Amino acid sequence: MAIAIWSSRFETGIDLVDAQHKALFEAVNRLAASFGAGTTATQVGESLAFLAQYTLEHFQTEEHFMREMGYPALETHRAEHARLVDKVQLLQSRLAEGKTVTMDVAIFLADWLKHHIHGADMAYVRFAKDKSRG
Ligand SMILES: [Fe+2]
Repeated sequence: MAIAIWSSRFETGIDLVDAQHKALFEAVNRLAASFGAGTTATQVGESLAFLAQYTLEHFQTEEHFMREMGYPALETHRAEHARLVDKVQLLQSRLAEGKTVTMDVAIFLADWLKHHIHGADMAYVRFAKDKSRG
């Protein structure tokens, strides 16, 4: 079941960021699918591990971009990223301890991603566009 459905309202107009966001939507959907019947904790763990690694890579891309353009709200944005990284790591350690991780996690991640793109990401995109206009 796809719970993160891409639409043009998530487009930032920055090709690399959009490609990474789309890949994150797909990764959240793979995680959601891994909670389906017949799948194992290993599959959930693998989907979560991919998300953990890919979010780090994506957040680095964005933070580098924001730093380069002198974005004033960089630290607030970084804090949002850091909270998500902590949350994903906590979920990974829960799974490693043999605790159950449920579909709620995929729903949380899908919601977080949509909110974060609409809020924090679009704010730096507006700043970038204003700046390029001079
Ligand atoms: Fe972001």
